[in-house]
Amino acid sequence: MSKITGRDLGKGSEKIDPWKSIEVKNYEQLMKNFGIEPFGPVLKKLKNPHLLMKRGIIFGHRGFDLILKAIKKKEDFAMMTGLMPSGKFHFGHMILAQQMIYYQQLGAKLFVCVADIEAYNMRKIPMEKLRETAIEEYLVNYIALGLKPKNCDFYFQSDRSVPYYRLISMLGRRTTLNELKDIYGDISPAKIVSVLTQVGDILHPQLEEYGGPKPVVVPVGIDQDPHIRLTRDIAQRVKNEFKFFLPSATYHKLLPGLKGGKMSSSDPFSYISLTDTPEEVKTKIMKYAFSGGGNSIEEHRKYGGNTDVDVSFQYLRFIFEPDDKKLQKIKEDYESGKMLTGELKSIVIEKIQKFLTEHQKKREKAKDKVHLFLKE
Ligand code: TRP
Repeated sequence: MSKITGRDLGKGSEKIDPWKSIEVKNYEQLMKNFGIEPFGPVLKKLKNPHLLMKRGIIFGHRGFDLILKAIKKKEDFAMMTGLMPSGKFHFGHMILAQQMIYYQQLGAKLFVCVADIEAYNMRKIPMEKLRETAIEEYLVNYIALGLKPKNCDFYFQSDRSVPYYRLISMLGRRTTLNELKDIYGDISPAKIVSVLTQVGDILHPQLEEYGGPKPVVVPVGIDQDPHIRLTRDIAQRVKNEFKFFLPSATYHKLLPGLKGGKMSSSDPFSYISLTDTPEEVKTKIMKYAFSGGGNSIEEHRKYGGNTDVDVSFQYLRFIFEPDDKKLQKIKEDYESGKMLTGELKSIVIEKIQKFLTEHQKKREKAKDKVHLFLKE
């Protein structure tokens, strides 16, 4: 079999550029192309899998067996993730926050990186602005969602320690320009810095200064897979020098944008942010949420709706209807034509409004806790 790389996936298959928002049509094909393992078999071995796991939204993994083993034997393990502080915190980001909190409750040590160096280089956002967004949008929402300061190392790339930067610098000789071109296509100094920094993010929790070698899981959207592949390859190459465990990763499907395609931070009508007002939620769902319903009431009653493409239904499935039976009932009623698009939209609007009213109160309280996370 020929080697498959980040950009050249052959006819009809997807390319992954971690700096562009992508839309995946065929996850199965993608898993095959990149050698991502299905999550199903490991799901059965978790005592309390997260809803996102049970629903198949977290669909794949690399090396998750190490994490299972650590959980089972009550050994140290960590969860590492990073955030690009470039805009509003929306429901797409919330899916990752839920996983962070899930692992924290399971006993993992959390490493949460503000990718300010990456955002500065790749998105050309001023440093001060990045810091403000990271705190007011990301951190405040994480806290309101349940993230605790204990066992959570929240850091800015630009502020990290000498051992972290020493590691990143030493990774320079462990890859080649050709390899980077192969994975990322066009390559630039800004990308090289961002990529090596992210490899350092993922590997540094295993340095002695951060508690030594241990299994580390990185939950990501599929767009980050190029970085995961490179990091795992580099971890192999340094194994004589650093006794790193190969980092593990899980992959979640991307929450669809309101209009059905991808979410884009430049288009506020493509997402719902966690600071949107109840009126905004209503307008966004009513006016913009892509419907899988029939073109007319008659048609809908006759043929039913398509829940696979219906954004309101997908928001219930991803987040807002945790009860499987209720979700199934809505699915059946909508697909049979018994439930109309307007009715489905009302359900989701009500659920989101209720959630956000509570959440926004929690956000106010969370602001007093921010300092507990900013120790470095
Ligand atoms: N590149 C990631 C993004 O675009 C952010 C990031 C930086 C990251 N370092 C990381 C993600 C380490 C996971 C692990 O969102």
